[in-house]
Amino acid sequence: MLFHIRSVRMDLCFELASQIMSRVGTAVTTIDEVHGFKYFDDRDLLGFVDGTENPTDQDAVNATTIGQEDPAFAGGSYVITQKYLHDVKRWNAISISEQENIIGRHKLSDIEQQDSAKAPYAHNVLTTIIEDGEQLEIVRDNMPFGEIGKGEFGTYFIGYARSPHRIEQMLENMFVGRPPGNYDRLLDFSRAATGSLFYVPSATFLDDVSPEDNGITASSAEAPVEVERRGADSLDTARRHPPVSDGSLGIGSLKKKANHE
Ligand code: HEM
Repeated sequence: MLFHIRSVRMDLCFELASQIMSRVGTAVTTIDEVHGFKYFDDRDLLGFVDGTENPTDQDAVNATTIGQEDPAFAGGSYVITQKYLHDVKRWNAISISEQENIIGRHKLSDIEQQDSAKAPYAHNVLTTIIEDGEQLEIVRDNMPFGEIGKGEFGTYFIGYARSPHRIEQMLENMFVGRPPGNYDRLLDFSRAATGSLFYVPSATFLDDVSPEDNGITASSAEAPVEVERRGADSLDTARRHPPVSDGSLGIGSLKKKANHE
C-alpha cells in the first residue's frame, strides 16, 4: 500500500502517517520508511532542479488520469515509486559540464540544452517518449532524502501516469538504453534500491469496494454485505485484467547486461 502524504509542514505529514498506521494496525508490516524534504529551489541532491518539465493544469490531468480507454478504472491512475541512492562523492568529482550533459540541462540556470547540443544519453532525451506523434508525459513528484551520518543521499522517484506503459518505457530507455547500450549515465551514479508499481483507485472506485470483493467470505465477514452491481462489475474486470502483476518492474539487472554487450 502506498499513502502519498504531502504538506509544506513536516509535522502534518508525520501526524497523518502516524494516524494511518495506528488505524491499519497489524494488517501491515513496515519494510522501509523514507521521509523526503524540499531542497533549495526544488533541486535534487545532485544539485539539479527536478520537476521543471512536468505538465501542468489540464495537461497534468490528461497525463495521469485513466480515461475511457479503460472504463472500469476511469478516474484512477498509476504510480511508480523507486528509491534511488546516489554516489554523491563520485558525482561531484566529475565536471559540471559532464553533469549537464547527463541531465540535458544547465545546472545553475535550469535552462534546457539545445536539442542539437544534447548527448544521446541525456536523461531528458531518454525519458522523452513520442508515440503516434504524441508526447507521452508523466507527472513526477520526486523528493530528496538522506542521512548525512550514514552517507546516504537519495532521490525518491514518484511518477504518476494514466498507464504504466509510458513509465516502463522510460525505465527501459534509461536502464537498457535507446538504442540498447545507450543507457542513462545517471545510473552510473545512482542505483534503485526499491521499486513498486501501484494502481491508484479513484474515490468512486473505493466507494464501490465491499468486504466480499476483498476475498472475505460471507461466513468470515462480520456482517452480511450487499455487493453493488457496479462494484462487482469493476472488480470482475479487475480480476480479468489485473492492472499489476507481482509489483516488479521486470527490468532486473538489464543495465548490467546492456553494459556488457
Ligand atoms: C535518479 C533518479 C532521478 C533523478 C535524480 C532525476 C532527475 C531529473 C532532472 C534533474 C530532470 C530535469 C528537470 C525536469 O524536467 O524535471 C528530470 C527530467 C525528467 N525525468 Fe528524471 N530523474 C530521476 C529518475 C527518473 C525516472 C526513473 C524517470 C521515469 C521513469 C524520470 C523521468 C523524467 C522525465 C519524463 C523528465 C522530463 C524530460 C523532459 O521532458 O525534458 N526520471 N529528471
